[in-house]
Amino acid sequence: MRKKWWHDGIVYQIYPKSFYDTNGDGYGDIQGIINRLDYIKDLGVNIIWISPVYQSPMVDHGYDISDYYEIDPMFGTMKDMDQLIEEADKRGIKILMDLVINHTSDQHEWFLRAMEDLEGPYADYYIIKEGNGGNPPNNWRSIFGGSAWEKIEGTNKYYLHLFTKEQPDLNWENEKLREELYKMVNYWLDKGIGGFRVDAITHIKKHPSFEGRPADREDGLVNAWDMYANVPGIEVFLNELKERTFLPHDAMTVGEAMSLDVNCLSNYIKEDGFFSTVFDFSYNEGIEDEASYEKQQYSVKEIKEAMFTYQLEAQKYGFVSEFIENHDQPRALNKFIPKENRNFYSGSMLGTMYFYLRGIPFLYQGQEIGMMNYEKKSIDEYVDVSTFEIYEKALLDGLSQVEALNLVNRRSREHARTPMQWDASEYSGFSGGKPWFPVNPDYTMINVASQLQEEQSLLSYYKKLTRLRNSTEYKNLFIYGEFKPAYTEMENIIGYERVDKDMRVLILNNYDSHGTRIELKDGIQKILLNNYDILTMDGNILELQPYQSVVCKLKRSR
Ligand code: NOJ
Repeated sequence: MRKKWWHDGIVYQIYPKSFYDTNGDGYGDIQGIINRLDYIKDLGVNIIWISPVYQSPMVDHGYDISDYYEIDPMFGTMKDMDQLIEEADKRGIKILMDLVINHTSDQHEWFLRAMEDLEGPYADYYIIKEGNGGNPPNNWRSIFGGSAWEKIEGTNKYYLHLFTKEQPDLNWENEKLREELYKMVNYWLDKGIGGFRVDAITHIKKHPSFEGRPADREDGLVNAWDMYANVPGIEVFLNELKERTFLPHDAMTVGEAMSLDVNCLSNYIKEDGFFSTVFDFSYNEGIEDEASYEKQQYSVKEIKEAMFTYQLEAQKYGFVSEFIENHDQPRALNKFIPKENRNFYSGSMLGTMYFYLRGIPFLYQGQEIGMMNYEKKSIDEYVDVSTFEIYEKALLDGLSQVEALNLVNRRSREHARTPMQWDASEYSGFSGGKPWFPVNPDYTMINVASQLQEEQSLLSYYKKLTRLRNSTEYKNLFIYGEFKPAYTEMENIIGYERVDKDMRVLILNNYDSHGTRIELKDGIQKILLNNYDILTMDGNILELQPYQSVVCKLKRSR
């Protein structure tokens, strides 16, 4: 395997709107990221992924881009962006931008021109079809709810939008459009960024038949994944994109490859695959049953099965990106841990559980201090389109308003988007002005300033996680070593080894509010990390406390 600069990456994701505001307008900005680079560096991170900062009407918080070559004034200027790249570089940090090329904003010049002249060249940049007897061309449902087609006023034509109607899908079949996109991607890479996180990329190819499918709900619509996710032929576009842009720049690319079957991983992440790596959604979303509203928590068994299946398959070809939080997910402590057990131990156990898997670890802003969901008292306190979709669907499925609110209080992606909690001062030190989205009131307890002081804080623990992963002695093993499940017979233990020809390291996580005893099969040579002060051993019996995690070097015997 050819070694790549990003193999030793530890990535920190920034949601800029909510990270740090330097001009007091209530929105985080690029200067805010620059201001906090030393904090990020100190975390042991060497790559930053920034959610979109391009010019945007912000219908989907920047994932609706109206100009790929401009920075939105909310975040600053291109000068700020250049400065960020430079300042990050000085600290040995690479920047990944968010690449949103499945769709643009409906305010993008291409789309405006397309709407002005439906026979003109720009109309073919988008997917526009004749209606079907006064109805949309087919019954595909948008990922954010409702029909995926929007009628073009005064005509019988519709344009396709897999997300909001303000995010029209681009027509990748059009070569000119593809050329425009490659030019733009190269513009950014030429600036010296490290690469991209690539948004919604499995959707760029649509099935040429544009066939409908039997409805899957009473609205008559259908989530027709086989028609617009990983459709055969997508490999032509993905290879071309890679060859024309990423490859010549030696860029790191992380595909947001939703609904990617584990058996199709190879084409995406192998050495000459479409991307450097893709996110492992298996245990974050893959086990979620949308229909089961009662389900409050994932079981350890489900998490483990999904995670290990993905790991075992992925390591045959390359690297996946491992995470427990991002801007589309509720907070990890809420998602993975029952209410009464959310504390330092369960938080640090979650971190340890995924940090030494084979792949690139990602951290999301605030995860390192254990930020939690901010539950709202009314649906009106939410602002995001996808929250409303979950809520409306739940009502249609017969849930009461209270039950539907409880549901979004558990599942909404907006919990990840509350302002970063820097300290206990007004607005959590995020901004001098009123933030665009309310700060979680728990900020007086959970914030960076207090955790920086404490040895026993989650923040200090995350630094230990990165320090061990980055250490000269173990780095190679954690990057390239084989992943091997361990103690799988113990239902509430997430255990695995990382093994290479010189070393074996065992990672044991007691994912349980009760203590447990494990009969160790191998001798321990050295404890590398422990989220408790104690470790109880009786001969070869290891006694683990509730949510205890230990990382240990094993005596070499196998
Ligand atoms: C995935 C992004 O992560 C999400 O935030 C966005 O709404 C959709 N793609 C559409 O771009």
